[in-house]
Amino acid sequence: MSQGKKRGMGILSDDKQAERGQLIELLTKAYWKEIETVMSYTANSINPDGVRAREVIDSLEQDIQEELGHSQLFGKRIKELYGTVPGSLDFKPEQSFLQPPDDNMDIVHVIKGVIEAENGGIEHYNKIIEFADEHGDPVTADMVTTILADEEGHKRLFEGFLREYERDS
Ligand SMILES: [Fe+2]
Ligand SMILES: [Fe+2]
Repeated sequence: MSQGKKRGMGILSDDKQAERGQLIELLTKAYWKEIETVMSYTANSINPDGVRAREVIDSLEQDIQEELGHSQLFGKRIKELYGTVPGSLDFKPEQSFLQPPDDNMDIVHVIKGVIEAENGGIEHYNKIIEFADEHGDPVTADMVTTILADEEGHKRLFEGFLREYERDS
């Protein structure tokens, strides 16, 4: 019965349905994080006033494209694991810290919000990598590792901005 013999298919094995379900849940949360980040970074790249905001705006504009790319990668992986990318009605916002500040000159508020958003991503993506490694899904682990590297870069860049603002204030 070579046809029916159990084959080692990693996360796509028949007996890994429960783990696939858990991964799809983790990936869906990641997908929404990226989508919300696109929304928040878009607003915060348009609203700020002042010459000094320019660098932050330029960085956010670039990040928006990267975060959108991340959301597409998470969506594709959800599908590959036999899940469905959710529709917009399932969206629940979480980024209270990235709402527009009362004062459009308040760039420090934006910088701190970005760092918090990146920290949230970094925390969640480390969790996904750990789960994927543990349950035989090197493809998800590899993909999310690459995305994690981007988020660590974003975090570091904005920490640099914050240092400069705090030194000058
Ligand atoms: Fe991202
Ligand atoms: Fe990011």
